[in-house]
Amino acid sequence: MQRVKVELADRSYDILIGRDLLVELGARCRKLGLGSRCAIITDSNVARHYGKETQQSLESAGFQTTLITIPPGEKSKSLKYLGECYDAMARHRIERKSFVVALGGGVVGDLAGFVAASYLRGIPFVQIPTTLLAQVDSSVGGKTGINLKAGKNLVGAFYQPRLVLCDLATLDSLPEREFRAGLAEVIKYGIIYDAPFFRRLEQQMQSALDRDPAVLGKIVARCCSIKADVVSQDETEGGLRAILNFGHTIGHAIEATAGYGKYLHGEAISIGQVLAARLSQKVLGLQVAEVERIRALLDRAGLPTEARFSTNQKQKLMAAMKLDKKVSGGEIKFVLARRIGEVEFGQRVPEREVFSVLS
Ligand SMILES: NC(=O)c1ccc[n+]([C@@H]2O[C@H](COP(=O)([O-])OP(=O)(O)OC[C@H]3O[C@@H](n4cnc5c(N)ncnc54)[C@H](O)[C@@H]3O)[C@@H](O)[C@H]2O)c1
Ligand SMILES: [Zn+2]
Repeated sequence: MQRVKVELADRSYDILIGRDLLVELGARCRKLGLGSRCAIITDSNVARHYGKETQQSLESAGFQTTLITIPPGEKSKSLKYLGECYDAMARHRIERKSFVVALGGGVVGDLAGFVAASYLRGIPFVQIPTTLLAQVDSSVGGKTGINLKAGKNLVGAFYQPRLVLCDLATLDSLPEREFRAGLAEVIKYGIIYDAPFFRRLEQQMQSALDRDPAVLGKIVARCCSIKADVVSQDETEGGLRAILNFGHTIGHAIEATAGYGKYLHGEAISIGQVLAARLSQKVLGLQVAEVERIRALLDRAGLPTEARFSTNQKQKLMAAMKLDKKVSGGEIKFVLARRIGEVEFGQRVPEREVFSVLS
C-alpha cells in the first residue's frame, strides 16, 4: 500500500492506494474517530459490485450503515438527487457526528461530497473512488458540487474528505472506455508537472492498459501526489491550481458543443490537450517534437486526438470558450506548456490563434 498526504494544516488527510483496501475501510474509519452511523452514497453500477463489501467492512467495525443508491451518470449530479440524499439521511437519523462514504466515480464523489459539506452545515466524509478518473483526480482536492440546468458544477463547495481510499481492485470491473478516459488525466499530470513521469508513461503505456497492478499502483500514487502538491499550495484556485486545467478550456468547449454524452470527459480533454499543445507551440515555443509526443501518447492510450470541425462548429467552440472568459474577466486564458513537465497558467491568447489551431 502507498500513502500520499494532502497537507492542509488541520484539514490534512491521507490518500491510501493499493489493492483490496475496501476490507479495511471500517477499521480505518474507527481510527479516524468517526461517529457510529454512516450513509454510503453510491450509484447502482457500483452498488452491484462493491455495495455489500463496503457495508460489511463498516458494520464489522461496529458502524451502522445505510446505503443510498442513485442512478449512474452525470444527470444524477443534480438538485433532485441532492434532495433525495438529504431526505434519506434525515430518515435514517444521520446526525452531526455521523459521516458520509462516497463510493463511486466522480459523479458520486462530487454529489456525496457536497451532501457532506452542506447537510447539518457539514459532516465528515470519506472518498472511495472507483474509476481511474476519480482515483487520480476528482476524489482529491476537495472540489464538490452539482450541476444546474444552466451549466456544470455551478453549485458547490470546497470541502475536504477525511480520507481517500483508492482500492485498485475496484478498477477491475471498470469498462475499458472509462479506464482509457481516466488515462487522459494521468497523461495530463506528466505534461503539467513531471517530465520523467511522462517518459515512464511512454515506456509503460501497454502495462497500464493491461492494468498491471504494480504499474497502476505507481501511476495512481504519482498522480495523487502531484494533485496533493498543487492543492496544498493553492486550495481554492487563486492561481497555481489552474494548471490542472491543461487541455480543459478547449476540452470543455468540445464537450458542451458536441452535446454532453458524445464524448466522455477524458476523451474531450484528450483532444483538448493536443490542441492546447499546438497552441503552446505557437505561443510559448513548445517544440514540434514534444507536441507529437503528447499526441502519440494519448493515441497509444486509445484516446481520440483529432476532431474535424466545420466553420460553424469552430464558431460554436469559440463562443463556448468565451463563456468561460466572462468568469475570468474579459479574455480567454489558457494553460500552455513551455515544455513537457512545465506549464504556465493565465496565458492570454488572441482569438485568431485559437481559431487557427482548431483547423
Ligand atoms: N471534483 C473534482 O475535482 C473533479 C475533477 C474531475 C472531474 N470531476 C467530475 O467527475 C465526474 C466524472 O467522473 P467519472 O468519470 O468517474 O464518471 P462516473 O462517476 O459517471 O463513472 C463512470 C461510469 O462508470 C461506472 N463505474 C464507476 N466505478 C465503476 C467500477 N469500479 N466498475 C464498474 N463501473 C463503474 C459508473 O456507474 C458510471 O456509469 C464529472 O461529473 C466531473 O465533473 C470532478
Ligand atoms: Zn478533467
